[in-house]
Parts: sequence; structure tokens; C-alpha cells
Amino acid sequence: MSATILDGKALAQRVRARIADDVGRLKAEHDVTPGLAAVLVGEDPASQVYVGMKHRACEAAGMLSRQIELPADTSQEALETTVRELNDDEAIDGILVQLPLPDHLDPQPVQELIQPDKDVDALNPYTAGRLAVGDPTFFSCTPYGVLEILADAGVETAGAEVVIVGRSNLVGRPLSNMLTLKGRDATVTLAHSRTRDLAEVCRRADVLVAAVGSAGLVTADMVREGAVVIDVGTNRTEDGKLTGDVDFDAVAEVAGAITPVPGGVGPMTVTMLLQNTLEAARVRRGLPRR
Ligand code: GUN
Repeated sequence: MSATILDGKALAQRVRARIADDVGRLKAEHDVTPGLAAVLVGEDPASQVYVGMKHRACEAAGMLSRQIELPADTSQEALETTVRELNDDEAIDGILVQLPLPDHLDPQPVQELIQPDKDVDALNPYTAGRLAVGDPTFFSCTPYGVLEILADAGVETAGAEVVIVGRSNLVGRPLSNMLTLKGRDATVTLAHSRTRDLAEVCRRADVLVAAVGSAGLVTADMVREGAVVIDVGTNRTEDGKLTGDVDFDAVAEVAGAITPVPGGVGPMTVTMLLQNTLEAARVRRGLPRR
């Protein structure tokens, strides 16, 4: 293997330690404890795991964490009432409604209800729109984690060719908007399932981001020698193991640097949720973001 492994787990530990320090200072100097509420509807096992991780990470950072578990047959109205109550709750700085919701619930009106100054998941169309017009409030957590991994690795994005595979509202689309902000200045190609000759498009990339949710999608022939490869995929193999979108062993022979799955982007997603909650707590009280 020739590629440098970009260790998201180690980076997450360092960033979380810094966040815990900042939380401690916010408490000591302003008597403020940042609070996150996570709403989980139903019993999707993966969502239960994610919400549990967010809860533990919040508490470890010294934040207030409130978990609201609603039954799978919760009505749209009841879910929206829960969000309204959290909007009005002064102890809560950040609200997150875990996706996917059960099929009978429509996530869009729920996301739209989350007060923009508490939208730490950045999935409210207002928040996404602010980013799209180049005046962001919150960055959504997974793409924010990707930016932090690139920055920590010393990867210069200005003028770089970045190819993102996957146009989801959770990752691909916001990441393309973040990387083209003034100051980041990447040249971004947002590729997707209808992209013609995906392999050739990917080979242009100085930085290749795979965010589709399809195990083994990115093969070694799609990667330029020395490119930085960021794997956002989280797929389960038949024997229950977590695997990314990138054929790791083969691509690591070609890439200059690569994130593993697990231990790459995943730990940074939760970390950036903590960062957003800390920022929300500060901004809501008129303090500078950091
Ligand atoms: N489900 C998978 N990823 C996410 C995320 O970042 N936020 C929420 N709310 N749900 C998710």
C-alpha cells in the first residue's frame, strides 16, 4: 500500500477534546451548557445506534443531551408538535430529527419547522439555501467532517479538481456548495447515477469523494495516481461488516491518501454535530461563533 491513511478517528478525538475545553469555558465564563435534542421515531436499528453515539459524544463533551424517542406510528402532527416544543425550549440549542423517518412521515415539513438558529443538522431548506448563496449559517455534519479531514491533511482545495460522486442533500450537494465557497475555491464536479463515463470523470480528480452508498463503486482504475480519496459510504456486507464505497485495498495502491471505513469520515460526522451545537449555543447568546 502506498497511500497515507487519513485517520478520522484520531482526528475526531483531538477535535472533541478541543470542543470539551470550549464547552468547559462557556460554562465557566457564561454559565451556558450547550444542549442538543435528538428525535428518533421508530426502532430502526442503525438509527438507534447513531442516535446513541450522538448522545454519548454529547455527554462526553459536557453538553446536555436529550433523546426523544417516539413510537413508529407517531403522526406527522405529533412529530411536528415535538419539534415546535423544542424550538421553544431555552435549554435546547440544537435539534436533530434522525433520518430516515418511517414511510408514513414526510421529513421535509419537519426539517422546515426546525428553527434556523437551532438547525445543527443543516437540513432545513433555509439553512441549505444560505449555504447555496454563499452566506452559510451551519454546515451539515458529514460534509463538514470531510472539510476538516482535508484541512487536517493539509490538502489545498483552492484551484483543485474535486469530483464528488453522489448528489444527496445530506452529503454531495452541500459539500459541492461548501467547496466552491470563496476561500475554499475548488473546481467541483458533482457526479451521479446519470453521469456519462464516470470512471473518466473520476480520474480528473485531485480529490475524489465517494458518497453514494454502493459498496465497491470506486475501483482503482477510477483514481488518478496520488489523488486524495474520501470515502463517505457506509454499507453493510452480508456478514454485517461496515464497508465504504471504495475498493479500499486496490485504491490504496494508487491514491496518495485515503480514508478508511470504519474510522474515516464516520467519527467526524458526530464530532461536527457537537461543533455545530457549540456554535449554536454561542450564537444564540450573542457570542462570537468561536
Ligand atoms: N441519517 C443519516 N445521517 C444523518 C444525518 O446526518 N442527520 C440526520 N438527521 N439523520 C441522518
